[in-house]
Amino acid sequence: MDNNFDVIVVGSGPGGYVCAIRSAQLGLKTACVETRKTLGGTCLNIGCIPSKSLLNSSEMYHKAQKEFNNLGVETGKIKLNLSKMMSNKNKSVLTLTKGIEFLFKKNKITHLKGKGSISAKDTVTVTDNSGKKISYKTKNIVIGTGSVSTSLPGIKIDEKIVVSSTGAISFEKVPKDLIVIGGGYIGLELSSVWKRLGSNVTVIEFLDHIIPGMDKDISTEFQKILNKQGINFKLNSNVTAVSVVKNKAVVDFTNNKSAKRERIECDKVLVAVGRKANIDEDISRSGIKLDNQKKIQVNEKFETSIKNIYAIGDVINKGPMLAHKAEDEGIAVAEIIAGQAGHVNYDVIPAVIYTSPEVATVGKTEEQLQKENIKYKIGKFPFLANSRAKINSETEGFVKIIADEKTDKVLGVSMISAVAGTMIAELALAMEFGASAEDIARTCHAHPTHSEAVKEAAMAVDK
Ligand code: NAI
Repeated sequence: MDNNFDVIVVGSGPGGYVCAIRSAQLGLKTACVETRKTLGGTCLNIGCIPSKSLLNSSEMYHKAQKEFNNLGVETGKIKLNLSKMMSNKNKSVLTLTKGIEFLFKKNKITHLKGKGSISAKDTVTVTDNSGKKISYKTKNIVIGTGSVSTSLPGIKIDEKIVVSSTGAISFEKVPKDLIVIGGGYIGLELSSVWKRLGSNVTVIEFLDHIIPGMDKDISTEFQKILNKQGINFKLNSNVTAVSVVKNKAVVDFTNNKSAKRERIECDKVLVAVGRKANIDEDISRSGIKLDNQKKIQVNEKFETSIKNIYAIGDVINKGPMLAHKAEDEGIAVAEIIAGQAGHVNYDVIPAVIYTSPEVATVGKTEEQLQKENIKYKIGKFPFLANSRAKINSETEGFVKIIADEKTDKVLGVSMISAVAGTMIAELALAMEFGASAEDIARTCHAHPTHSEAVKEAAMAVDK
């Protein structure tokens, strides 16, 4: 094989594999190094894809048990076959990772199997399973090594009783009592899965609200909804220790306000307190500059401090740790390397929590606008008054549109709805085009759809 490339991408997650495909499509001779057996990174193998498979299956199970009968769909006794549910999840992961393999072949991308390290500014060395090293010369390197779960001081993740999301998507039995540390994206999505499958779930969150960074109206309403579903919350609580005794875990935590100490015993503990950039010693040694959170510093062209070495995705100091942000950066950097004008608009990156109902946001929250001293107006519309949501018994949640007080330009949207994750695309598009709330209000929306609530909220901006 000719060992000279135009681009070598290190990591095949949503950032890396998309970057490799786009680079190849633009005529660059491209290779992608991956240390996992399968392509796709965290998202496809142990993140978005398997968790969404379990969210979907567990929701079906829940609906079959609790809702079908009301609709006149009578079934026998509904039984959970967890190992089949897990096999179905594994099948989805396999199909999608194979799909990337196919795309690599189709686009003539060289798949380098092993651990990639930057041995010089124009050289990537790949170490395979047997320890054999081969070096490849390249004009450009793109680092897309993603992120890894973090834990808390003194808490050891064994992936059996004290687990990260990786363990929590592969339990062999439904835990009777599950403690989730962290009320963020991962904590709440996986709480939903196991609650629906029968666990008693308690979420312990350090702050006084769940989903930090989201609009306060949303986080308050969302917590009420999850509470109603039977998920317990201990807010303002700092976990001080987790110990494992005879296949059980004991979690100690202290209330930040009252200093009251509590202890709960459970079968499994999920630690979901965030993720950190996946920077190994090779990257640290390479002289690439990191910021104070140990993320790679890049400029607006995704260049690191070393010429011709770029970085994208969770590993960089820009934007949220989200798969679709990484994908857009992957395309942008490929276009920049090919001499085009790649660009990512960080003001319009949607975020979705795939619970039931879903939570979705794009743009700024009310709290952010207050901090930035920007004057705004708000339009809100509840799904209780949306006909399609009523028909489907999906009346929880609302749409909240925030627009500039003077210009009416949409600055941010937050919503809770059964189909919020799909509906948020309309608002992201509107914001990309610089739409006003009136533009949305005057756009014809099909009836009866959940999307009519978006139009109604846009109309409510101007009362
Ligand atoms: P997160 O940052 O979303 O939430 C972590 C939570 O843990 C926060 O609420 C934080 O206040 C809390 N916490 C921190 N220290 C604590 C302590 N000592 N005791 C109790 N609570 C504590 O992180 P998460 O959920 O682990 O997700 C990691 C990343 O993965 C996020 O950046 C997220 O964007 C991404 N992700 C996105 C998903 C999606 O798009 N649907 C799904 C899953 C993950």
